Amino acid sequence: MTGYRDAQDPVPYGADDRPAEEHGMTRRQLMRHAGWFGGAVVLTVAGGEVISHIAGSGGTAAEAAAASGGALRFVQVSDSHIGFHGPANMDVVGSFTEAIGQVNTLGFRPDFVMHSGDLTHLSTPGQFDQVRQMMSGLRTDRVFTVPGEHDSIGDAGRAYRQIFGQGTLGDGWYSFDTHGVHFIALVNTLSLEKLGHLGTEQIDFVRKDLAGLSSDTPVVVFSHIPLFAMYPQWGWSTDDALKVIALLRRFSSVTCLNGHVHQLFSKTEGNITFHSATTTAYPLPKPGRAPAPTPQVVPARRLKAALGIRTVGYRQGDRELAIKDDSLPGAHQ
Ligand SMILES: [Fe+2]
Ligand SMILES: [Fe+2]
Repeated sequence: MTGYRDAQDPVPYGADDRPAEEHGMTRRQLMRHAGWFGGAVVLTVAGGEVISHIAGSGGTAAEAAAASGGALRFVQVSDSHIGFHGPANMDVVGSFTEAIGQVNTLGFRPDFVMHSGDLTHLSTPGQFDQVRQMMSGLRTDRVFTVPGEHDSIGDAGRAYRQIFGQGTLGDGWYSFDTHGVHFIALVNTLSLEKLGHLGTEQIDFVRKDLAGLSSDTPVVVFSHIPLFAMYPQWGWSTDDALKVIALLRRFSSVTCLNGHVHQLFSKTEGNITFHSATTTAYPLPKPGRAPAPTPQVVPARRLKAALGIRTVGYRQGDRELAIKDDSLPGAHQ
């Protein structure tokens, strides 16, 4: 299939082949999000419905999936904003380095890592090169990306695609399969005129891409800007996403994972669950809690708690998908 990546395709760039370390580190629950997640949300697919429930402190589905052979385990990182300098985080390189170290000491080697956009802050060649080199240190088989609007400044994403667009279609979208799950990576950030927009060519790609899939295939969709209307007043939505949502309605399990909003948020609409990821750079305000979505300065001891990584587990056959969000190491809760 044209533009289709599968598990046999070469790594787009830079991942090494060192064995996974088994440090058995204790991953701290994100207690600051207890009101939102209670630490971890476990998504169970049963009878065609996605059931989201709060996991207890021991024996989560994610841990069960991680412990079982043959499970899919991947990591989402987002919004590293390499090149940002400001009081909200004076060392985004250091924070992203910590996030990479956290991925590399999960106690298992993730099947892949997805960076869901805003890799850089200003789309400069130096920033692209720096983030590419940093991600080459991830101990995983493959690294995938989708662009953020900060990766598309002034050139509609051309510089981004030169480095990260290998094997993609159109303006950088693609899909792949692994462990029985179908993944689609979308682009909704190309220019200020196209922010939060997919376009007919990309929607046609999704239509053809999904056409041959059985409705019981779990589908995961990545995008930078949310596909749900998280807060349209700040551009935290995608104006033509409903055309893609309509194509996804027949599937029993659909999970949409996005960045851009620099905070955890979860929402379920029928068969589709949306999860906004946090950032490794700096927090943004909650929707409507500030005049504009500008970087939030928090006390240094609390910054790490606002930053983090996401681990996703899926055990083939059990139709179980688990999402776990962790703050950076050393965070004060
Ligand atoms: Fe961002
Ligand atoms: Fe963004």
